[in-house]
Amino acid sequence: MLAGTGHELAQLLHPVTPEEFLAKYWEKQALHVRGTPEKFARLFDRKRFDQAILHAGFDKRAPASFGIHAFWRNRHGLYAAIEIAPDQVREALTSRTTVCVNDIGAGDEGLSVFAAHIKRQLGLPSPVRFNCYLSPPGEGLDTHYDARHATVIQLSGRKLWRYSRLPAAAYPLRNAIVEQDGRVRQSDNKPIKDVPTPDESQFEEVMLEPGDILYLPPGCWHNAKAGDDSSLALNMACETVGFFSILGPELERVLQNRVEWRSLVPATLATPAGAGAMPPEVKEFISSRVSELRELLGKLAADEAELERLWRRSSTSSPHFTQARPASEVSLKPGDVLQRTEPYPLPFVVRPDAKADAPAAVYVYGANTEVALPGDALPLVRALAERQRFTVSEVESWPGVRLEQAHDVLKLLVTRGLLRTES
Ligand SMILES: [Fe+2]
Repeated sequence: MLAGTGHELAQLLHPVTPEEFLAKYWEKQALHVRGTPEKFARLFDRKRFDQAILHAGFDKRAPASFGIHAFWRNRHGLYAAIEIAPDQVREALTSRTTVCVNDIGAGDEGLSVFAAHIKRQLGLPSPVRFNCYLSPPGEGLDTHYDARHATVIQLSGRKLWRYSRLPAAAYPLRNAIVEQDGRVRQSDNKPIKDVPTPDESQFEEVMLEPGDILYLPPGCWHNAKAGDDSSLALNMACETVGFFSILGPELERVLQNRVEWRSLVPATLATPAGAGAMPPEVKEFISSRVSELRELLGKLAADEAELERLWRRSSTSSPHFTQARPASEVSLKPGDVLQRTEPYPLPFVVRPDAKADAPAAVYVYGANTEVALPGDALPLVRALAERQRFTVSEVESWPGVRLEQAHDVLKLLVTRGLLRTES
């Protein structure tokens, strides 16, 4: 992760504190915070918008989450989106169309670094991304809710927001809109039970000015309309990835090493006698796999270190990568000053060893990586966790640290991007 201050969340929410935000607003209710035009002047602007869409828009390696969309009213009078190319943005804006760039951080390093630090400061295992909305005067979006946490950051121009303070649905699976006849329709066109048409007369109303933020939990109804000038706003989206989406791939990673989990359910031919019964080989196959899964889950539930690793790995990584250095480049001299690359207490997980005095292993996290170290490196890891900056020769005086091992570990951590040498 590139340099951040470690205080991005506090800056974003100021004067509301991160503690107050988590206790009163996160997942619970909308929050509007009035700011000043300077508050986000360095975060992003229109010039960076143009650069970002050119940068990522013509890059074949841009992530699938990146995309530019223009919203226009279809024949039913509803806003619909089409994907456009970077060189169509100017034309879209002159024809009174809102342009939305999804995952604009893919084309702007400053934004992707900011998003990575917010993810880290909230300890979120799911991705945080910036989408960006450029709306001509008077344009915006009709009443809908999103299935994710959204924090709107108004950068320039003004936009009138109307929204429900409380979510209409708890962690909805999909976005939903209110159709012109007042019916609620989910984004996959399926009808939604238990979500009534919102009473828009009860909506809160606020004119967002440059420097303001508006946080909306998943499922909060909202609509927005730009004022007399065109409006540029970021939307910081915390994707709502349910816990199964974190656990599922982990189980798959372990299980697909076994041929039984890569193979097909046994093929069987249909016979009249078998119409009402499961073929024995199919029954045997499925019940064996379910038993293995139960056994694996039982082991995992009893293994605290493994559970912590699962959470640490997902909450300390972001799509923004730090370039690891080839090991041969790293050489350390006693006078070298080393610095930790991240402004956080160094996260680590200890795997105990029931039979030995020292733990079996220590895992350290940061810079999008998990580094596995031998258990007797724990005194060194503890010492590193307390420091942001130190000289190589200082390590000798740290209690319980073996010097030769320490040098190898420090080099490894430089290589993996968790430490850097100060030049
Ligand atoms: Fe929205």
